[in-house]
Amino acid sequence: KKQEIIEKLKQLKITAVIRNSDINTMFSLADALKKGGIEALEITVETPGALDVIKELNKENKYFVGAGTVLDAETARAAIIAGAKFIFTPVMRLDVIKLCNRYGIPVIPGATTPTEILTGYEAGADFIKVFPAGVFGPQYLKEILGPLKHIPIFVTGGINKNNIKDFILAGATGVSLGGALVDKDLIAKGMFDKITERAREFVNLVNQV
Ligand code: 3PG
Repeated sequence: KKQEIIEKLKQLKITAVIRNSDINTMFSLADALKKGGIEALEITVETPGALDVIKELNKENKYFVGAGTVLDAETARAAIIAGAKFIFTPVMRLDVIKLCNRYGIPVIPGATTPTEILTGYEAGADFIKVFPAGVFGPQYLKEILGPLKHIPIFVTGGINKNNIKDFILAGATGVSLGGALVDKDLIAKGMFDKITERAREFVNLVNQV
């Protein structure tokens, strides 16, 4: 099962980060993103109701939902019990990696330096999330993947229409998109059709590589 989730993340390539939305909005976003071809969702756990939404969305098997911004092992366990399919965390905590390994749930911790990336991978991470990747840029990823090409990388933080293809070309296995896709202005205006459109654009960009 764990391997299936890993393969699916690799195949879908894009996850959408849903942060600080109210519960109804999270359901509307899930729908809008799915219509645009993005079904892997990362609901950040500090969002009130996050665990309930993860549980509910995974029920229908229409979405593929994990938890984001998991900062400690207790929260990882709660998210896994709620049904999270994968755990994203911006930091490298060995207890979080261990706990996810124990439950057989893929874990994607954050790292930036080559030493952190290798340490996290060898500690049992399934992917490493290079964060904040937008600040470091595609060339940084490319250089790192010279010696560390066996490590599957997700990039996140500041990924947009202008740099997403370069990150894939640089060797990123996957990309997590927050603000450039799940745009707060569009949400405030209730323009979920525009979010569907953006999802399609991002899927197309990634498929062009
Ligand atoms: C986040 O912290 O919400 C994610 O890393 C996404 O970042 P972004 O909004 O810059 O895409």
